[in-house]
Formats: sequence, structure tokens, C-alpha cells
Amino acid sequence: MKSDFFKYQAQTTTHPLAMEISHANGSYIYDTNNKAYLDFVAGVSATPLGHNHPKVINAIKEQADKYLHVMVYGEYIQKPAVELTKLLAKHLPYPLEKTYLTNSGTEAIEGALKLAKRATGRSGIISAYNAYHGNTMGSMSVMGYEERKQAFRPLLPDVTFINFNNEDDLSHITTKTACVILETIQGSAGFVESINGYLEKVRLRCNEFGALLILDEIQPGIGRTGKLFGFEHYNCIPDILVTGKGLGGGMPIGAFTASTKLMDLLSENPKLGHITTFGGHPLIAASALATLQEITESDLMPLALEKEQLIRKLLVHPLILEIRGKGLMLALITPSADIANTVILKSQDLGLILFWLLFEPKAVRITPPLTISNDEIIKGCGIIIAVLNSIKH
Ligand SMILES: Cc1ncc(COP(=O)(O)O)c(C=O)c1O
Repeated sequence: MKSDFFKYQAQTTTHPLAMEISHANGSYIYDTNNKAYLDFVAGVSATPLGHNHPKVINAIKEQADKYLHVMVYGEYIQKPAVELTKLLAKHLPYPLEKTYLTNSGTEAIEGALKLAKRATGRSGIISAYNAYHGNTMGSMSVMGYEERKQAFRPLLPDVTFINFNNEDDLSHITTKTACVILETIQGSAGFVESINGYLEKVRLRCNEFGALLILDEIQPGIGRTGKLFGFEHYNCIPDILVTGKGLGGGMPIGAFTASTKLMDLLSENPKLGHITTFGGHPLIAASALATLQEITESDLMPLALEKEQLIRKLLVHPLILEIRGKGLMLALITPSADIANTVILKSQDLGLILFWLLFEPKAVRITPPLTISNDEIIKGCGIIIAVLNSIKH
């Protein structure tokens, strides 16, 4: 299997982890030697209820018995998609009430950027340095990391980058700006949070100049930070909210939500303003609906904040310079990329899954399922401390 993996399946690096998966359950993933790995990554924030959650699996099975794909997005009334978008609206502040379901996070970003251009008739887009919004051409155009996009130029014109948390840079938002796109908490940059009312100030400046604010909550959204959406920690409601990852409960999804007035622009002048074959797929919408119901009806969100405190209490070590992030979206900042690599790779040998962040090589990602138990947290943090103790410093 390993040689076929390298021979036939396209790779994204020359050194993938290449663990061969047998099955997964709860907070554990098992390899084909039946070795158990405690999952502190949750498929990069994409499985908030852990693996094989019975409510998610049942929802998928029940839907699979009824129908799979029957028609392209938006034509037929399919209960899972309608109920999912209705439940999202129930938990969102006015005027965020209408949701377009897509196949991935990056497609939702594309849809949001298109909607902003269509609504304002402007072309200027403002994004932040070190931002990550996905890997298709539009999303890559607003990625604030030149090294990873240089080879794919030309990309979208009229994109200006500002420094996240820098108020002076907000002067770039003008009457030419269609939208400002920001991650509520910058993920790939190293889980960088908004400080000193920054997001509120972005919101005010957008209001002043008629620019739309897009908040990318593909990673912090759906309960990971202890609230359903990251923006609830700040006094800042976006015009377009983008979600994905955890919303699918382990199935591929993206979504962008806006007011009815804005969203309806995608169905006229031109009609079919954004179309997709599989967006809102019934199996995926059923999985997402079960996931969203569980997260909003259980105590998983307040518990995420308690689990954060437990992790912060356990992970105290001279080689951990800082723990960034909120809830169960945490990043350990170590003194060097070498140390971060050692922690990630040695922990995997010892049965704990950790991962990198895209643009911060000194960081170690901790984004476990929200369902992780305190005992599992204690066990995983114990492995991290043991690995750190084994590093000479
Ligand atoms: C903040 C953010 N935006 C967008 C994306 C892209 O989502 P997807 O990989 O589903 O296209 C990601 C994925 O890591 C992300 O973290």
C-alpha cells in the first residue's frame, strides 16, 4: 500500500507522514498495525465530534438509504440542506440568514469574494499578510504569503495586503474597496487573535466606506473557540461569514452566509452567479446538520474553554514560549522550527498526533476534537512534556 501511495496518489510534499489508516473512533486513529494514536489535530480542525460519532454516522446512513445526489445545487428542495441552513440562521445574528453550501472552504471563499464584487461593483480587495483562505486562484490571491503563490501568478488584480492588528493600515480601506477579508483568528500565521478592538475598528471603517467585511471562520467556527463563531468574542458582525471544516463533521463542506438582500444578488444579473454540482449534497448536509445540532445542544462549547485551561495548566515547560489561541484552537510556540518538528514527529512515534501550522514553523498545532476527555488531554500533554524533556536545551 505504501509504495502505491507514493506511486499513484499525488503528493503535496516530498515527505508526507504516510501513516496507513485502519480505522478511527472517538479521539483515536488506528494504523494498520493496530497502533492507537491519540488525535490532537482532528483532521486539522475538521472533526469536532471526533471520529465515527454515532449521531453523525447514523445521519449519514439514514440519508444514504433515501437518496444521494439528485440535482445540481439549488434546484430541488432537499431536507438536509434546508434544515442545515435554517439551523445556521437560527444561531446567527441578523442579518446573516441565508447560506450557500459549497464543496470546500476555498470554494466558499471564492463565492464570498464574487458576492462582494457583485454587490459593490468595486474590484479592490483587502487581505492580511500571513492570511490563509484556501488554495484555488481567488483564495490564493488573498493569501498573504508570497513564497507559496509566486509560481502561480498572475492571480487576481487589485488585492492589497495590510498587517493584521495594525490600525494605521486601515487607511487602505477606501471607496474603491469591494471587501476586506480576514480570518477572525489568523490560523496559519500562528493562531493570532485580534487585539485592542481591531476587528471592531475594521468593521467601522468598512461601514464608513461601503466596503463589505468577510470573516473567514473556516477554522475557528463551529464551536472550536468556545463559542459557535469566533466573531462572537468580538463586537464585530461580518457582512459575509465563511465556514467549513468542522461544520461537515468529517465530511467535505464549505458555506458562506449573508443577508437575504446580499445573497439574492447571486441569482440575478447575471443569474447563476455561483453554481456547483455537488454543493449542499444530501449526505454531507445530513452529517453537518447532525454535527451542528450536537454542538449547539450539548455543553461542548463551554467545556472547550475548560479544556483550554487544563491544557494551559499542563503544558508549562521552558521550551514552550507561549500558547496562542482560544478554546481548542491552540498553538504552542517553541524556540525553533527544529524543536517544533521534533515535538511533532517524536510525539507521533509515542502515539500522539500533532501537526504544523502553514506559515509559522515554530508552532505546534493542538486542535483536538471538542469531544476529547480530560483524561485524554492529560495523557496527550504528558507525551508532549516527555518529548520536550528529551530535547537538550
Ligand atoms: C482559515 C481557512 N480558510 C480557508 C481554508 C480552506 O478550506 P478548504 O481546505 O476546505 O478548501 C482553510 C483550510 O485550512 C482555512 O484554515
